[in-house]
Amino acid sequence: MSDSLSLRDITDFAEALAKEAGELIRREREESTLRTDYKDQTELVTHADVLADEFITNAIRERFPNHRILSEETMPDLTQAEHLDTPLWIIDPIDGTVNYAYGHPQVAVSIAYAERGQVQVGVVHAPFPGETFRATKGEGATLNGQPIEHSGATSPRQSLFATGFPYTKDNLEPLIKRLDAMIHQCRDLRRIGSAALDICWVACGRLDIYYENVSPWDFAAARLIAWEAGATVGHFGDVPAGYPADLWGRDILISAPEVWEPVRSILRTASGYE
Ligand code: IPD
Ligand code: CA
Ligand code: CA
Repeated sequence: MSDSLSLRDITDFAEALAKEAGELIRREREESTLRTDYKDQTELVTHADVLADEFITNAIRERFPNHRILSEETMPDLTQAEHLDTPLWIIDPIDGTVNYAYGHPQVAVSIAYAERGQVQVGVVHAPFPGETFRATKGEGATLNGQPIEHSGATSPRQSLFATGFPYTKDNLEPLIKRLDAMIHQCRDLRRIGSAALDICWVACGRLDIYYENVSPWDFAAARLIAWEAGATVGHFGDVPAGYPADLWGRDILISAPEVWEPVRSILRTASGYE
């Protein structure tokens, strides 16, 4: 535990930050001309991504100068996740940047806090609909203060799944194979454009299944929220020995408990894992 603060205090701090960053993001879209750029040639980034990242990371550094930070825009050094000695914050200032740039509402600020590689606190705040998902380890998950629970789906055929695709298009074939298998065996697909919201929507029963390959900042907070909402969280591929599963982004599968094993099997077969 950090300083003499309880995990609930840390959750309150994270929620306040996420809401302030959300306001900043909303104001930027409503009041300024959208300023965009590209990173790694293909990936869209807006001025608001960077502003919100700086706002959140500065506030954490000021409050917890000894903690580590992993944030998508200003501190994206993934090796931070392997240092288990110091508490780690994991930030996505805008999850759903493409939605943001196109004026869609599915945009979220995601803030997670981990100790020894285990996420203890997760907040995902969607500023346009005004929805805040939050969880503290062991205390359940809420949406705007009300407890949430997974859908209770019992078969893939009657399940709505979400997934996503990377910005780089050079290795899409394995993902298309998975999609092909899933679309044939489930009810339908939603491509929402924010992994954090996909997972929170599994947590509150708006979706039944989510799988993807993503980065720690996309899912760390939402994964805890789903776990605390009673969903099954894990991977359909292997997690490297010694790496914290809470932060490993390849082959993530999060779903209502009863469909987790059957979907794991569909995805493993489609991936050629067995
Ligand atoms: C993206 C979203 C999207 C997922 C991509 C992520 P960003 O995050 O979470 O749903 O499919 O893989 O990169 O770029 O909007 O922060
Ligand atoms: Ca993201
Ligand atoms: Ca982002």
